[in-house]
Amino acid sequence: MIIAVDGPSGSGKSSTARGVATRLGLRYLDTGATYRAVTWSAVDRGLDLDDTAAVAQRARELELEVSTDPSNQFVIADGTDVTAAIREPRISEVVSKIATNLDVRKELIRRQRAVIDAAQSSGGIVVEGRDIATVVATDAELKVHLTADQDARMSRRAAELESGSVTAEQLRDQIVRRDADDATVSQFLVASDGAVTVDSTHLTLEEVVDVISRLAKETVPRG
Ligand code: DC
Repeated sequence: MIIAVDGPSGSGKSSTARGVATRLGLRYLDTGATYRAVTWSAVDRGLDLDDTAAVAQRARELELEVSTDPSNQFVIADGTDVTAAIREPRISEVVSKIATNLDVRKELIRRQRAVIDAAQSSGGIVVEGRDIATVVATDAELKVHLTADQDARMSRRAAELESGSVTAEQLRDQIVRRDADDATVSQFLVASDGAVTVDSTHLTLEEVVDVISRLAKETVPRG
């Protein structure tokens, strides 16, 4: 079974997709991490990020391992553990340049599909991103388009900051990321045919995970 979870940054997509995978005993793929890893590598090598051919070449050459264990997420790029580095604001500030490079997308979509195929033998996978239902896995059995209104996203951020569960740096990262996404990759955010829109505005994380897990159980896997 493939469950696609698409939505903008700040919709609670990552926590939701990971929560659903854990609940249902499925693998989990954060496709955003693949774009971030290529960005990290291009920055690390001092490439000109506007040189689309050089950056695409880097994407093809990069040795990349992205964990699909929802409770143990890590990313290894050319032998370096970049799990934390790919979340730094210096990466978030420029990742949309890499995510709009069509040759990079072609390469990463190929790799994402290979991970998805490999997970089929272990029961299936929850795949999180922007273009999963529309491009990467159009055959997903369940397609979820996750949304939340602006006020809900802002008040969640404020609550997280107050509770100490995020730092000001992480918050800045999220905001930078959202702005970058809005500016460049919003074209991918059309809900796909057959997608179920789940509005998390008035729901807790637990409730959103419940809703999606229930939908998944009602979905008969193809076979
Ligand atoms: O979800 P995220 O912030 O980690 O994503 C990082 C960047 O990659 C962001 O610019 C959106 C982009 N992205 C994309 O274009 N397609 C995806 N499937 C996932 C992320």
